[in-house]
Amino acid sequence: MDDIVVTSPDRAENTEVAEKAAAYRRLARDGLAVVDRVHGIRRYQPLYGLTDEDRALFPAPKRLVDERWEHIGANLPPVGSAMDVGCQHGWFTFKLAERGLHTIGVEGSLRAFQVAQWLTLYNQSDRASFQRLYVDAETAQHLPAVDVVVCMAIFHHWVRLQGLDDATRIMQALADRCRDRMFFETGQVGDTDTLDRSSIGFMGRRPRRWIKRFLKDLGFRKVVHLATLSRSTDNRRTRHLMLALR
Ligand SMILES: C[S@@+](CC[C@H](N)C(=O)[O-])C[C@H]1O[C@@H](n2cnc3c(N)ncnc32)[C@H](O)[C@@H]1O
Repeated sequence: MDDIVVTSPDRAENTEVAEKAAAYRRLARDGLAVVDRVHGIRRYQPLYGLTDEDRALFPAPKRLVDERWEHIGANLPPVGSAMDVGCQHGWFTFKLAERGLHTIGVEGSLRAFQVAQWLTLYNQSDRASFQRLYVDAETAQHLPAVDVVVCMAIFHHWVRLQGLDDATRIMQALADRCRDRMFFETGQVGDTDTLDRSSIGFMGRRPRRWIKRFLKDLGFRKVVHLATLSRSTDNRRTRHLMLALR
């Protein structure tokens, strides 16, 4: 695998390191297979770093991560720390780590968390780590302060399940812990057939304007609209990707 760092000039030692790495990768792939067999890996984010052969073993993703990463990757600080809240399989967490940011992915679902953990081993990632935590208005107070917060496709779940007041408290806690910038995307009315979006009807017919005001009210100095992006491979309705600056 490309990302194994082989430092020793000793060939036998190098072979041993590569063999160990391959063994960990096989272990991680088997772990992923067990999660898939027992729980069914959710068809959403891609599984980061898998070889083509291994990827073919698991459900095809539908989250359009690359077009989102194009905008996030172009707007990152060169160094620092990051937190990806509601990270699912950790695709963005690993991408942030790949760019050198020390990144924590926070995820409430045990199944998604397990997948992210196996992928940490598979990729032998040393800058990405995961915390299993159900984020609510209380637990959000215990999250760490970081330079970059990624908060994508989760706000509408907080509103739906915990109400707007608590969702706003969570967002305020994240804003207070965000030292430099936050990337934000949320579900919008009209972007799905499968979920009742009445809970976010308060955004009105101009969600972009509502989001901008909302992020500014959390204390961000400047809010930039980065892109309007399709939701997924099977739903081309759009959402806004925003960047909020401290
Ligand atoms: C729609 S997915 C978005 C995943 C990722 N942020 C992205 O943009 O691709 C939402 C994720 O947030 C997680 N989630 C939802 N509510 C949560 C909560 N209260 N605490 C932690 N994770 C939560 C879900 O389990 C799921 O993995």
